[in-house]
Amino acid sequence: MIIELNNVSIRRNNVKLLKNINWTIKQGEHWAILGLNGAGKTTLLNMINGYIFPSTGELRVLGKTVGKYDMRKLRKSIGWVSSSIQERFHDYSTAIDIVLSGKFATVDLYDEITEEDRILAHQCLDKLNAQNLADREYRTFSHGEKQRVLIARGLMAQPELLILDEPCTGLDIIARENLLSIIKNLSEDVNSPTLIYVTHHIEEILPTFSHTLLLRRGEIYSAGIASEVLTKENLSDFYETPIIFEKSGDRVLIHLDYDNMLKE
Ligand SMILES: Nc1ncnc2c1ncn2[C@@H]1O[C@H](COP(=O)(O)OP(=O)(O)OP(=O)(O)O)[C@@H](O)[C@H]1O
Ligand SMILES: [Mg+2]
Repeated sequence: MIIELNNVSIRRNNVKLLKNINWTIKQGEHWAILGLNGAGKTTLLNMINGYIFPSTGELRVLGKTVGKYDMRKLRKSIGWVSSSIQERFHDYSTAIDIVLSGKFATVDLYDEITEEDRILAHQCLDKLNAQNLADREYRTFSHGEKQRVLIARGLMAQPELLILDEPCTGLDIIARENLLSIIKNLSEDVNSPTLIYVTHHIEEILPTFSHTLLLRRGEIYSAGIASEVLTKENLSDFYETPIIFEKSGDRVLIHLDYDNMLKE
């Protein structure tokens, strides 16, 4: 088991941000998480990374019970990339130093860097088609380039679990496809970490994501095999509004059905 949540709830000021979540991720699965703003996605990820604790229920990550294990140790096996970490890095750090810092799951380089580390860091940049950025300063990168460097950083510790929280936000449609294709290649690698991919956009859910979780108002609306979750009926119900459902290639996309919305 990569992740196991048993009846997990999180309460803040008497409001349940997450309610009775039962969810497991097994080795070999890759998951997409879809939910509207405020659904609780980031709260869920913060919990998986041990930054917040369940109010009730039990959470096990990579076989360790969160709350009973040193999360700093566990975090070294979890790569986490989100736009919120984009701002944490120093403008004058080079891409290669930022990737190297991923070894320690810290922003700065405190410990000794070996030659093997450097080789691995270059390989990580290579996987993200970002070798050309290695010696450039972070402040000179576009949003998309920053994302690629940060994903390379996420791979540096050779994590068992890699969490990508809206990695395509702020990317144009071509840059987005490029990043998705890189993610697809990563996911197909025999040594790929288990991926959790959080998004607002269904069309980003590649077939490589075997499973999907739909989160709504802190509750699991539906979770399971992607093709069984991403159906027209399920999604229309999930969004509580009429939708137009399309398939393009192996992917699903939806639009709001404005004609029928007016009639309701
Ligand atoms: N510490 C807190 N105290 C009170 N409410 C909180 C706290 N942290 C998060 N929330 C609330 O919990 C809800 C879920 O927030 P969360 O950030 O997990 O949503 P999200 O699904 O990641 O949304 P988005 O798609 O916008 O990133 C929001 O309504 C948010 O205001
Ligand atoms: Mg969020």
